[in-house]
Amino acid sequence: MKIILFVSIVCLVSLVSSYDGLKVLNDIIVSMDRGLNFLNSQIGSLNLDSIIGTRIVEDQLRIAHENHPKSEYLVEILQKIEKLQRDASLISNKSIPYLKLQEPNYYWKMKDIIAPGSWLINKRHDDLLLVKKTQFVIGREEMDGSFSDYCISNLFRKNSNCRISKSCNKVMTSPFFNQYSLTHQVFFWLIFERAGCFLYDSSVFINYFTQHSCSRVFLEAREFEKEGYPKDGRDLFMEQTAICGLRGFRRNFCNANWLKEILKWQKSSGCWGESSSNKRDEKGLKGGCLAHQTAVALAALSQHLRFNLVQF
Ligand SMILES: *[C@@H]1O[C@H](CO)[C@@H](O)[C@H](O)[C@H]1NC(C)=O
Repeated sequence: MKIILFVSIVCLVSLVSSYDGLKVLNDIIVSMDRGLNFLNSQIGSLNLDSIIGTRIVEDQLRIAHENHPKSEYLVEILQKIEKLQRDASLISNKSIPYLKLQEPNYYWKMKDIIAPGSWLINKRHDDLLLVKKTQFVIGREEMDGSFSDYCISNLFRKNSNCRISKSCNKVMTSPFFNQYSLTHQVFFWLIFERAGCFLYDSSVFINYFTQHSCSRVFLEAREFEKEGYPKDGRDLFMEQTAICGLRGFRRNFCNANWLKEILKWQKSSGCWGESSSNKRDEKGLKGGCLAHQTAVALAALSQHLRFNLVQF
């Protein structure tokens, strides 16, 4: 009798927790669906940075549903994820002709990072390093957005052979940055690796550098949480989750509290949009919506989705 009771309690507990897990997955899916619908209604006004976000969503969701074991009670969830992936793909595809017309130079420089498959990044989990607060207090926010674009586009130049100019190398390995400049360093090295530039002798250093960077990013994110998630830091916070999640730190960045916050910030029209003083290239839309921020939120949610899916 005791054993039967024990077994049923264990079953009940695991049933309840898998029910909770399914609910979390469903909440993320519903939110992403609304966000993608919003972007779909804005096709002609999405800028290139937004399309980077929708491509990240497309490729990350592809990994999520193609690699996941097809267990019985996930069939529906996996179908929904596949649909989100197709929606994200279509939004990017439909936006590209507009981008070519509206931002031709920027488009030609950056087209390789908005091609389908550019973000099929599936990095294994790594542990964060213990870094001291003092190591980032001295950080500065001073990488110019166009400089980071310049370094990225150089990677895709014909015959560049993955050579990085001295100035790019100096900036991309500087230990003195924080906030957007810091996440952009990690972003750059992820692209470097995707461009096929992961040579053995550099890979050890780059792995360590981005691990160290994301450890500092994590401290910044925790500070932001302690401050009560002020509006002007939300864009950066979601970018931090998106980028360090891609780098493989989902276990740290995709916690339940942070997920709840991101879901809470979504507006009734499905978009996100809290302006931040120092964000470049943000294009305001109707109803206080920001296109780039919505795309960043979706990219962050794609990491939360991947994290919660592997719990099954
Ligand atoms: C988007 O375009 C690519 C080719 O560039 C194609 O392979 C893909 O199927 C398209 N996505 C959708 C959903 O039609």
